[in-house]
Amino acid sequence: MTRFVSGRTPTTNTLETNAGAFERALRVTPGCVNSPVRAFRAVGGTPVFLASGRGAYVTDVEGTEYVDLVGQWGPALLGHAHPEVIAAAHAAVDRGLGFGAASTGEVELAELVLDRLTLGKGATERRAIEKLRLVSTGTEATMTAIRLARGATGRPLLVKFAGHYHGHSDSLLSEAGSGVATLGIPGSAGITPETAAQTIVIPYNDEDALAAVFAAHGDRIAAVITEAAAANMGVVPPKPGFNRLLADTAHTHGALLISDEVMTGFRSTAAGWWGLEERQGVPYDADLTTFGKIIGGGLPLAGLGGRADVLDLLAPLGPVYQAGTLSGNPVAVATGAAMLRGADEVVYEHLPRAARAIGDGLSAALTAEGVEHVVAWAGSQFSIFFRADAPQNYAEAQDQATWRFGPFFHEMLDHGVSLPPSVYEAWFVSAAHDDAAIERVLSAARPAARAAAAAARV
Ligand SMILES: Cc1ncc(COP(=O)(O)O)c(C=O)c1O
Repeated sequence: MTRFVSGRTPTTNTLETNAGAFERALRVTPGCVNSPVRAFRAVGGTPVFLASGRGAYVTDVEGTEYVDLVGQWGPALLGHAHPEVIAAAHAAVDRGLGFGAASTGEVELAELVLDRLTLGKGATERRAIEKLRLVSTGTEATMTAIRLARGATGRPLLVKFAGHYHGHSDSLLSEAGSGVATLGIPGSAGITPETAAQTIVIPYNDEDALAAVFAAHGDRIAAVITEAAAANMGVVPPKPGFNRLLADTAHTHGALLISDEVMTGFRSTAAGWWGLEERQGVPYDADLTTFGKIIGGGLPLAGLGGRADVLDLLAPLGPVYQAGTLSGNPVAVATGAAMLRGADEVVYEHLPRAARAIGDGLSAALTAEGVEHVVAWAGSQFSIFFRADAPQNYAEAQDQATWRFGPFFHEMLDHGVSLPPSVYEAWFVSAAHDDAAIERVLSAARPAARAAAAAARV
């Protein structure tokens, strides 16, 4: 595991302030942000404008440094500006920014991914995916997966779970998590009733609801899509064996299972959440798996993997169309490959240790201040719920003292810790979160817990 030389972000030299940048942004950008979860709507106040990041730290335009627990919303597995990842990006830039033609970097990345997603050898070999198509965003990956499932089955309907977020394509915004949950809206304007009617939303971790939806519509369902472990309504892991039940139920009815590993892929283990359940002895077979975030090492890259016979239905071999000017961009694939190469055993041992130290420390502080809470876990991913027990679905995730989060968040920020600005988002640690960074988070925990305790219900 590479250590950062200083572990600190270089300070910026600018007269810009967060408030000034906010004013400027409001004039030219809707809501001042280019993705809603970055706004401080749920926590109040002025968003911090970041200028640089290194290791576990980010620095805003005023030169204030924070321990970062957002991690670029997932990609920064090795920490910000990891030297080897940056070197790979520089080397690729020097060769040209893109060609719009096949390049060997794409093949290398696909080989790396397939290799990680193959466990065991010989008779016991298990493969999560057989082929991979690269795209530019997680949204594109899940959107294409649905089209492919419909193309493969000739069926119209999609089953998704309330509180799961799979990007912002039309079919997937019904009762979605992440920004949709943060803003407290049921879906999105601009989606036709006909499109919305093609998606059936059921509660997560609910075997009866799953059985009922297949009993009623089994021969018209193309696919079930699920986050491999939900992390966009806060962290809500699947019940043991639930992913396998999804696969078995879908397959019994001739439908496909799409496992969305945009968040968990290459994070939960080297082989993602799929690898974790393999290790735990509850293997499941998804037909399609989507990747994003870490696979691009911080640049816009995502992927759609799965059974070869299904992937081969994509153009140019098959009738399901999908394309992209920037798909498999050479700089992004080089960066992603460097990130994956750097994510070794040591990294995967470090992540849960660092996450536990932070989660347990925060929990102790909240307990000491008498704040009802639970830290929910899915591998090394976690989030805090202001309720007594870990939720199993979206309705339970929403049933918490959300108003405690704003004051908690701002106290952490004031003490130099940057959290996702929503109670419905997972927190991300990286390989660069060393003892010093963790200590800094924990020293902010007690005042933040005090602020949560004093928060008034709104
Ligand atoms: C599980 C999951 N799927 C899909 C997406 C969409 O990815 P992107 O934001 O790259 O479009 C996200 C984004 O956070 C996600 O968490």
